[in-house]
This record gives sequence, structure tokens and C-alpha cells, in this order.
Amino acid sequence: MTDGKVRINKHLDLSRLPTHIAIIMDGNGRWATRRGLPRNMGHKAGCENLKKIIQHIYDLGIRYATFFTFSTENWKRPKDEIDGIFNIVRDYLNEDAEQFVEKGAKIMVSGDYKKLPSDLVSAIDNIVEKTKNCEKFTLNLAINYGGRDEILRGVNQAIEVGKPLNNQEDFSKLLYSADIPDPDFVIRTSGEMRVSNFMLWQMAYSEFYFTKVYWPSFSPRDLQKALIDYQGRKRRFGKI
Ligand code: FPP
Repeated sequence: MTDGKVRINKHLDLSRLPTHIAIIMDGNGRWATRRGLPRNMGHKAGCENLKKIIQHIYDLGIRYATFFTFSTENWKRPKDEIDGIFNIVRDYLNEDAEQFVEKGAKIMVSGDYKKLPSDLVSAIDNIVEKTKNCEKFTLNLAINYGGRDEILRGVNQAIEVGKPLNNQEDFSKLLYSADIPDPDFVIRTSGEMRVSNFMLWQMAYSEFYFTKVYWPSFSPRDLQKALIDYQGRKRRFGKI
């Protein structure tokens, strides 16, 4: 998290913000390639931007934020790129742990994170433990995460319990996101218009926003623009 103060757009109604915003941070690689840099420099820049955007989401008073950090499909990338991403995430969590506690920010993880390298698993366990009583803001990092995997995991848990679930809420409680509300608003950067196996169950009634801006360039102003767009939507949840 950073401490940059950002002017609020006069069209943004601070009383009608989403409770939970989820972001697919896409375009780090292209951002770097365009600048003649190695792809991992794009992830580094993506991490710096993540700090800025988390701070802005927090300053706006949005209660929950989920960021798609590493998908179950991202293992198909070259090893040095994967290692680079894991090192960036590990350093970020280790360096910012105290700041999260000071700000009352709880860190949680969606995904099979125990399969990640042991230094990253320790960094995650450490920050989750340190921030477990924080209540002002929840940051959910989706890491080694896949929506279908998550659903399958929930189904297997239900089978283990051995009796039918009463309702959808009971199934939601079997997911990584059991303790947080579904995302109201999902943003994907870089111009791709796909869901890419992200929060498949939780996004049933989310509003979507796609922008061509690459993640490292997605600014707090861009975020406000997206939120203004969100506020212009009529959410009907199947009603008329
Ligand atoms: C997608 O861009 C981005 C990723 C797969 C990695 C996201 C990781 C970070 C932003 C690092 C920091 C994260 C944390 C939580 C500290 P891409 O590589 O698919 O871009 P491309 O589509 O242009 O190739």
C-alpha cells in the first residue's frame, strides 16, 4: 500500500460504491514488451501499480478487493517468468506486512497456495496470521486459483459431508470466498474480454468492466472512471 492522495472525480458518488471489487490484472507482459523490457519487468511494474490501486480502493472506503494474481493455468508459462512472479508476490507480502496490520487490512488467499514454493507459502501464512483480526478492509489474493478447481473442491467437500446441500448459500460456504460477499464489480484490463476461470460461482450477478489499458498503467483515475460507469448500471438480479 502507498500513501498517494488522489483527487476524487466529481461524478463519483462515494455513497454508492461496490462492497467488493475484483480485478483481473492483465497486460503486464505486453506493457513490458512495448517498452523493450523483459516480461518480468511488467510484473514488477504491475506490482507497483497494485500497491497504488489497493491504497486507492482502501481510501475510497471499499471494503473488499480481490486480485487475480496467478491462475492454475499460469503454470504453463516459462519457469523463469513464474519464479519472477512468485518472488515479486513474496517480497511484497514480506515488505508490507506491518503496513497492512497498521491499516487494519486483512489478507486472505483464494487458491491452492500450499502448492507454491515454500518461501511464498511462509510469507502467505505469516501475513494471513498477522492480519487475521483486521477488520477495516479485506484483500483477497487469488493465487494458484482456478474457478473450476474451486467448484470441484467444494463439490468434493459436500460429498464428504454426505448429505444434500439445502441452498446456494450452503455451497458458497464451501468455497475459498466463504467469508466474503460475492464481487459486485469485476474489472479486466488490457482489452481482453474473457473471464479466464476467475470466480465463476461468485460472479453470477457481478457487473463487468473491460478497459484496453494495460495493468501497470491502470491508474486511480481509471479506477474512478470504471466506478462511475458501474454507478450508471441498473442491477436487477433477475428482477424487472
Ligand atoms: C497478467 O498479465 C498478469 C499476471 C499473470 C500476473 C499478475 C501479477 C502481478 C501484478 C504481480 C504482483 C502481484 C501481487 C499480488 C504482488 P500477462 O502477463 O498475462 O500480460 P500479457 O497478457 O500482456 O502477456
